[in-house]
Amino acid sequence: MSNSVIETLNAHRTHRNFTDQPVSDATLATIITTAQQAPTSQYLQAYSLVEITDQKVRQQLATITTKPTVATQGRLMVVLADQNRNAYLSATPTAKRALTELDRFMASVEDATLFTEAMVMVTESLGLGSVVLGSINNDTQAVIELLDLPPLTLPVFGFQLGYPATQPERKPRLGLDAILFKDHYAQPVSYQAALTAFDQQLHAYYQQRSSHARDEQLSQLTREALGSAAKRRDFLKVARQQGFLPEIDA
Ligand SMILES: Cc1cc2nc3c(=O)[nH]c(=O)nc-3n(C[C@H](O)[C@H](O)[C@H](O)COP(=O)(O)O)c2cc1C
Repeated sequence: MSNSVIETLNAHRTHRNFTDQPVSDATLATIITTAQQAPTSQYLQAYSLVEITDQKVRQQLATITTKPTVATQGRLMVVLADQNRNAYLSATPTAKRALTELDRFMASVEDATLFTEAMVMVTESLGLGSVVLGSINNDTQAVIELLDLPPLTLPVFGFQLGYPATQPERKPRLGLDAILFKDHYAQPVSYQAALTAFDQQLHAYYQQRSSHARDEQLSQLTREALGSAAKRRDFLKVARQQGFLPEIDA
């Protein structure tokens, strides 16, 4: 079974290097407005974007994300969880309070996330590439200050896009047995065979990869990935400073 959407999703890979070919305003507008059709919780559209055009700010975001190319290649946005607009629109203290709580906080992050994935897909369908940069939250407070973010907003992702300078290999994904369960949750030990099969695919991927050949298993990758949590321990504190997640008496 195939169509253009399936082909685009199946061809996905993150791009981190972009050519000098400019991305036009019209292309960017098409990507953003199309991605806005992503589902949005309670139709509240609780996200917004800041495009970074100031070279000094790009350089600072490159430092925060530890990716020098963030300063120099393609176009760069920051996707925000944004309940500030909804607070302005709803205007009553009760509504404003509701917008600060976990339920609406999560909804704004979910909205921003679905919107970002839709941008990834539209970008790729047009022959461009992109990288989602969770690493802007290595220093959330600095990003808030750089972008003058008001209460009830938080940076969720950086999003850098452009015309790909390289064609990275496609990374494999877990098989269906490892992620689709019937009626009840299945513990990983019950689908160990699917995990072992994935390890073989991962091994093949890392061996044929043109850069950074590695020889690793999923368990090792998983352990290595957890280092970023330590870098982002102040996220809850910063979210509270932005007016989200008040302590609630039971
Ligand atoms: C929430 C999220 C945050 C991410 N943050 C970064 C990042 O900070 N830097 C980066 O280079 N890639 C980042 N990525 C891209 C992932 O590394 C990439 O999607 C993953 O390795 C799978 O590779 P693929 O997208 O090429 O299939 C992020 C992806 C997601 C979904």
